[in-house]
Amino acid sequence: MRRALLRLGVLAALAATPALADSPGGRPVKLALPDGEQVYKQVCAACHLDHAQGSPDGTVPALAHNAKLASADYPITVVMKGQGGMPWFSEMLTPGQVAAVVGYVRTHFDNSYADPVSEADVKRIAAAIRASEE
Ligand code: HEC
Repeated sequence: MRRALLRLGVLAALAATPALADSPGGRPVKLALPDGEQVYKQVCAACHLDHAQGSPDGTVPALAHNAKLASADYPITVVMKGQGGMPWFSEMLTPGQVAAVVGYVRTHFDNSYADPVSEADVKRIAAAIRASEE
């Protein structure tokens, strides 16, 4: 967990850089991360760790070999809405980046759920989350 916390420090430092700062119009500027692997390494690995093994004390679950990733809707929902100690990333990541990172974790780390995850899936779930919060 210590390592995860250290990495979180890095994440916080990143958050303070202009790339992530609010634009003058107040709209958050999205991170420029080209693919799911980069999103995983720069964002998710801070807590879930490099091999998606989760934290040794179990507070951050492993994404490796995780049967809960079988339906893409579940990880998309967790990433868009947050859950327990996990923040939501709907403001930091674009729908395309969420689709890419969910696709990445579902096909790596001893997971082999090959059905593709699309931006449209993410937008559908974002709409359902919005509707449930109204
Ligand atoms: C600040 C730490 C942190 C970051 C960063 C983070 N997570 Fe999490 N994640 C957690 C915690 C803590 C949980 C457990 C939440 C709970 O209480 O159910 C979790 C749970 C999950 C789950 C549910 C796992 C299960 O077995 O139920 C998924 C899927 C997930 N995270 C994916 C991601 C992805 C993809 C990213 C990167 C976009 C990410 N997480 C970034 C801390 C984090």
